[in-house]
Amino acid sequence: MGYKVAVLPGDGIGPEVTAAAETVLQKVASLAGFTVELERAEIGGSAIEASGHPFPRATEELVHRADAVLLGAVGGPRWANHPVTPEQGLLLLRESLGLFANLRPFEVFAGLESASPLKRPPSRGVIVRELLGGLYYGTPRGRGLRADRVFEAYDTSRYSVPEIERIARIGFQLAEREGVPLVSVDKANVLETSKLWRETVTRMADEYPGVSLVHRYVDAAAAELVTAPDRYRVAICENLFGDILSDLTGGLVGSLGVMASATVRQFDPDLGLYEPIHGSAPDIAGQGISNPLGAIGSVAMMLEWSFGLPDAAVALNQAVRRAVSGGVRTPDLGGQATTQDMTESVLAELEHAF
Ligand code: NAD
Ligand code: IPM
Ligand code: MN
Repeated sequence: MGYKVAVLPGDGIGPEVTAAAETVLQKVASLAGFTVELERAEIGGSAIEASGHPFPRATEELVHRADAVLLGAVGGPRWANHPVTPEQGLLLLRESLGLFANLRPFEVFAGLESASPLKRPPSRGVIVRELLGGLYYGTPRGRGLRADRVFEAYDTSRYSVPEIERIARIGFQLAEREGVPLVSVDKANVLETSKLWRETVTRMADEYPGVSLVHRYVDAAAAELVTAPDRYRVAICENLFGDILSDLTGGLVGSLGVMASATVRQFDPDLGLYEPIHGSAPDIAGQGISNPLGAIGSVAMMLEWSFGLPDAAVALNQAVRRAVSGGVRTPDLGGQATTQDMTESVLAELEHAF
């Protein structure tokens, strides 16, 4: 088998972590007996520099020809006040792909318990973040003037019933597969969109008699994720809540650097977008010390969700766990290893994993 992967390194540490992930993907391919064709394109600030737009047409065409897309990160202080920002490029990419279910798993690796601020670190769970709706995409949005000066700014949150149903379906199915409760996170005590979210998810629960459905308000969920994270084996939420809560789980496991993600639209192997949840980390970019595990974990999700190779995904995750328990640690995890040290350690463990 052969797969086409579009690689969009982006800005800051994006190119460092995607380079590591590409090497790991090629190694998995040679060990598991498939081929990958990697093709790179610009996105974000680097695309603004090259062509004036953060999501150029050539990039859009490439991602639609691919079986999977691997993204590093976008953004940086240099473009913060640009009329079109790198972050808008990422939103355009997600919208263009039409993928709506952003799976953001969290897990404390054996040997990394001390990196977690918790006395009893969580075992594992997944935040299922709706990725194409809510405040990120709702219109109208903009600024209002008063006496020729900017007076106010506004965003609109909007969710349709079908948009809620399709993300809830992914959540119910994941919870059913894992045999765990589904936690639906909202702010239904205040927001219209959340009221509709809760009504819709509640109505759908009849279709999944094996899944117990739990509702939580997002503010209480933030606290409970810290005090009782094991209650969150599968949680679904709207776009902005998922952005925030998934970084919170990054804090729980000790570093954003290890956090992977996959954005999908169905359970059968299909086009997917794979990106670590962290950003371009301008504070450490260019030093060769970024943690590549979020990008490498995203490759493991690609093996499962886009290539339909769950055994290869398990083998790669095992190699990552062994590398970590062997003691290799980048500075975000309290060690002194470089990106390259950590990648080489995963590559070495991969030899034993197949
Ligand atoms: P960030 O995730 O880039 O960094 C937050 C902190 O985590 C920093 O101290 C950073 O050094 C650390 N960190 C993040 N990833 C790491 C890794 N792999 N290894 C080691 N340490 C790591 O968030 P920020 O500083 O708020 O944002 C910086 C820029 O990134 C902004 O322009 C923001 O918009 C953008 N951003 C992009 C994405 C994306 O492309 N998906 C995600 C989040 C933020
Ligand atoms: C993420 C990032 C993005 C988001 C930004 C950079 C648009 O924070 O992938 O979590 O908010 O979705
Ligand atoms: Mn984020």
